[in-house]
Amino acid sequence: MIIKPIIQGMVARSAHPLGCEQAVLEQIKIAKQSDPIKDGPKKVLILGASSGFGLASRIALTFGGCSADTIGVSLERGPCAKGGASAGWFNNHYFKQHAEASGHIAINIDGDAFAESTRLHVIEAIETYFEGEVDLIIYSLATGARPNPETGELWRSTIKPIGERIKSNLISLEDDRWSDVVLEPATEKEAQTTIKVMGGEDWESWIDTLINSESIAQGCQTIAFSYVGPEVTHPLYLDGTLGRAKIDLHQTSHSLNLKLANYRGGAYATVCKALVTKASVFIPGLTPYMIALYKVMKEKGLHEGCIEQMQRLYRDRLFGQKQVPLDCERLIRMDDWELLPEVQREVSTILTHMNSNNFAQIGDYDGFKSDFLKLNGFNFETIDYMLPVNTDVFINSNN
Ligand code: NAI
Repeated sequence: MIIKPIIQGMVARSAHPLGCEQAVLEQIKIAKQSDPIKDGPKKVLILGASSGFGLASRIALTFGGCSADTIGVSLERGPCAKGGASAGWFNNHYFKQHAEASGHIAINIDGDAFAESTRLHVIEAIETYFEGEVDLIIYSLATGARPNPETGELWRSTIKPIGERIKSNLISLEDDRWSDVVLEPATEKEAQTTIKVMGGEDWESWIDTLINSESIAQGCQTIAFSYVGPEVTHPLYLDGTLGRAKIDLHQTSHSLNLKLANYRGGAYATVCKALVTKASVFIPGLTPYMIALYKVMKEKGLHEGCIEQMQRLYRDRLFGQKQVPLDCERLIRMDDWELLPEVQREVSTILTHMNSNNFAQIGDYDGFKSDFLKLNGFNFETIDYMLPVNTDVFINSNN
């Protein structure tokens, strides 16, 4: 079949396997060419390994200097007779292929990270492939719902402001159109359920599970990702439902840090730069800011994609240092370049002038859209998208 990009709103409904392989290979190349990560971990568990920061972490730690073996958990749509797999499934498939070809262990567990059966599967894999222990756990899930472990009832996250309605703008990736939008404030219940889904509770319960199964190595660290952003984004993010969940995640990092101190390890929330991923394009109102940010950071030679952010995180912050550099709230800051005053001054100027007619000229909309297409295996010059792909070969393939 010939596979073309199908986008509905902000969601990609198709993925090209050869393009996904290309995207993985490009990240592997960047990791190999970067200054290496030193004194890094050897046995890494990644929850949310198939895309975004989780995939980039996996690639950086395997190919970027410390030659880690990895177990990756993700929830992706596999291939079937009726249609192709999701981009994340292809990413897992090709990551494993290339990691194993270079002599690394790469175990993919495709399952719901909230399910007890997935936890048992992970513990079994740690026993079988990692001699029973992990030395880094990366929590990189992004999802819209989580079941209450006691009742099975679903908590759903919402992306809304808190307190006041705000006016903002959306840019639809489906038809490249700018529209005005009013975001109504969340109810208290919506704010609370968002904390349940995107806060720290599940991260903590994973670490508790691994402590109870004696799967934590001496010196084991754990990290989860957060976003803070500049003031202009605060009504949408930091002061909204997602921000509340992230503050909960930051607090969880402190209690996990105490638990892992028993193993001479640590736990850190890591604040990252705003980047195009499957999850971030979903945040209403963030796209105008991101295209202004991309424009300015690229012009200043400061732009990083997920792989560059993760390589720098593991090389310059988490490993190879006498001490992990932290801010006054015990956060690792990878948004340092995004928040530079000279970057934010120019971003603000662009945003002041941005409107429905000029957003593609004064912001880096082309770069933003291209990154989104590449996440799904499209827009690679080396691939002839008119050639049919035999997707049947992936059915029953060993992932
Ligand atoms: P992503 O959408 O690219 O990746 C999410 C991962 O979670 C995928 O591997 C997916 O398969 C997995 N996943 C989702 N639900 C699952 C489930 N029930 N069971 C197993 N796996 C599941 O997202 P992204 O952007 O990499 O987000 C990761 C973290 O980074 C999130 O906490 C996000 O808030 C944070 N972050 C993202 C930023 C961005 O600009 N993209 C900026 C700062 C923080």
